[in-house]
Amino acid sequence: MVTQDDLKRRVAQSALRFVLPGRVLGVGTGSTVDLFIDALAAAKLDVKQAVSSSGRSTAKLAAIGIEVLDLNDVESLPVYVDGADEIDAGFHMIKGGGAALTREKIIAAVAQSFVCIADASKRVEVLGRFPLPVEVVPMARSHVARELAKLGGRPVWREGVLTDNGNLILDVHGLAITDPVATESRINQIVGVVTNGLFAARGADVLLLGGADGVRELRR
Ligand code: A5P
Repeated sequence: MVTQDDLKRRVAQSALRFVLPGRVLGVGTGSTVDLFIDALAAAKLDVKQAVSSSGRSTAKLAAIGIEVLDLNDVESLPVYVDGADEIDAGFHMIKGGGAALTREKIIAAVAQSFVCIADASKRVEVLGRFPLPVEVVPMARSHVARELAKLGGRPVWREGVLTDNGNLILDVHGLAITDPVATESRINQIVGVVTNGLFAARGADVLLLGGADGVRELRR
């Protein structure tokens, strides 16, 4: 039987063909990206430098001898490879299950091409079954939770989790996100929100979707 981990491994492997030799590579966060970094190490491609969206990925990259640069020192980033918690037909995503959403969104904004690697379970018709992560400045947690409830969601504090930026995560349950661009923008306007896990204004460009019958390459 093909497991979800097998599918993640296949998409991770197939993302290697998007890696440009000699160029800085953008690397996201999560279990699928962990497998991508493993594949990168095994393939011995000409990748010497990367930018990373989390301490977790930075440590893994450093362990295989890839130098992790400060994004401020990078002028252009041709490719960013990252996973998703959900992705719809318009290539809008929910991300942030690993609490790295803000750094992921910043790198995605800089990258010319966002290559999303996901197993088939991540593809949805309407975003929102996966609780939407929102990164919040600690003193604003209750205020932001009240405002999110007014939008119809049920925010739950991810207790015990601090982001790499020293902030908190609220996971918003019960949203059916039919207009991801508008919802992303609306939530970002709540004072105290750093950013939210909707990647809609800047979604993915390429989706590598791993299913039982192989990896499909889809473009926006
Ligand atoms: C990390 O904050 C997330 O955005 C991940 O990209 C997302 O949760 C996908 O993770 P997995 O690859 O572990 O499913």
